[in-house]
Amino acid sequence: MTHIFLWGVATSAFQLEGSPYADWATWDSRLQTHPDITHHYYLYKKDLKLLKELGVNAYRFSLEWSRIQPAENRWDTKALQHYQNIIDFLRDEGIEPMVTLHHFTHPNWFIETYSWHHEQSVVKFQEYVERVANQLQKVRYWITFNEPNVLLLGGYLDGCMPPGLQDRSSFVRAFKNILYAHGSAYDTLHSSLPEVWVGIAHNMVAFSPYWRWNPLDQFLSRMVHYYYNHSLLDALKTGLLRLRFPVFNKMEMNMPIQGKLDFLGVNYYTRIHVRFNPFRPMCLDLRHEDRDGYGLTDMGWEIHPHGMERTLKEASTLGLPMIITENGIATRNQQKKEKFIKSHIDTLEQCLKKGMDIRGYFYWSLMDHYEWLKGLDARFGLYSVNYDTLERKATSVAGFYSYLIKKRANFD
Ligand code: FCB
Repeated sequence: MTHIFLWGVATSAFQLEGSPYADWATWDSRLQTHPDITHHYYLYKKDLKLLKELGVNAYRFSLEWSRIQPAENRWDTKALQHYQNIIDFLRDEGIEPMVTLHHFTHPNWFIETYSWHHEQSVVKFQEYVERVANQLQKVRYWITFNEPNVLLLGGYLDGCMPPGLQDRSSFVRAFKNILYAHGSAYDTLHSSLPEVWVGIAHNMVAFSPYWRWNPLDQFLSRMVHYYYNHSLLDALKTGLLRLRFPVFNKMEMNMPIQGKLDFLGVNYYTRIHVRFNPFRPMCLDLRHEDRDGYGLTDMGWEIHPHGMERTLKEASTLGLPMIITENGIATRNQQKKEKFIKSHIDTLEQCLKKGMDIRGYFYWSLMDHYEWLKGLDARFGLYSVNYDTLERKATSVAGFYSYLIKKRANFD
C-alpha cells in the first residue's frame, strides 16, 4: 500500500453525535440538561464540507457502536449505512478515512451485562467488528481502540468514566480483555479487507520529575512513565503484559497479540510533573506546571511542544511507522491556538528530519464538541460551534491550519 503524508483532523462519534443508547449518555447527567449534542448526526453532510474547505487529505472519525448495535440482539443497518455514507463522501473527495472502532463509549447493554472485565466482552466486541468489516470495505486505515490506557484508568481504577469501577482486579482483567479484543479485531480486519493498516491510538504523556534533583520524584516519574506510556507498547511488542507498578506485584501475562499492529497512533497533548507526596494515594502528585512559559490550556494542561519529540522517540522503540492521531488545544484564544499548532508542527518537522518514521498528523479537533469531563466548555475546534443556533464558524486558526498544511504538503 502506498502512503502519502496524512494531514488531517480527528473527531469521535459520541463527542459530536451523542447517542441515546450509549453508556456516556446515561453516565453524564449534564447531558440531560445540556443542549442537544446529537445534531451532527443529522448535519454531517454540511460538516463534512468543512474538511474540503480546510484542504485536509485525511479524516479520522469513529463509529458509534451503540447506534450500530442498540440492543444485544438488534443491529441497525441504517446506522451502519450512515457511516458508509461518510466514507463514500470522503472517497469521492479524495480524503482518506481513518476509522476508529472504539472511542470510549459502549452500548448500554454491553456495559450493564459485560464490560471489559467480563470474559465474554471479547466475543461481543468481535461480533461488532465482523459486522463492520463486512460492510465498510473501502477503509484502509483502522484504529481498534482509542487510548486504552485512559479508558482503563478512568473506567476501572479512578472511576471517573463508565463503568465507574475502582477495582484493581477488574482493571487487570479489563486490560487483558481489551488487548485480546484488539488482537482479534486485527485478525478480522486483515482477513476480510485487503491492504489494511491497523493501529491503536495511544495517549502518551511526557512525564518529568517535579524536582529534578529529587531521587524520589525521579523514581516515581520513571514508574509512571513505564506504567502509562510503555506497558501497552511492551505488550504489543512482546506479547507479554507486565504490570510492574508496585501495587500489582510485578504481574506478567502472555497473550497472542505480538506483532498485531501495523502502525502506532500517538495522541500527544501535554507534559506532567510527578512529585512524591506521602499524603496522596500511591504517594504521588501529578501536576501541570507552566515551566517554560508556553502557558496552560483551558483544560489546565501544560503546553510543551518539545514533549512531543520525547514521546515520539519513546514510541519509535516499537519499530513501527507512527501517526500523530491527536494533538490539539482547548482555548478560546485564537492566537494561542495558532502558536500551539505551529510549535507542534515545527517539532514534527524536526522529528522527521531526525529520521523518525511518522506518516501523518491529525489536529484534534475539526470543530467544538462535547468533551468528556469538561462538557461543552472546552473549545478545541478549528470551527467554533454556537450551541444555541448550531452555527459552525471558521475560526482564524482554520485558515492558518490550511495554510500550514499546504505549505508543508510535501513532507513525503
Ligand atoms: C483525548 C481523547 C479525545 C479528546 C481529547 C481532548 O484523550 O481521545 O476524545 O477528548 O483527549
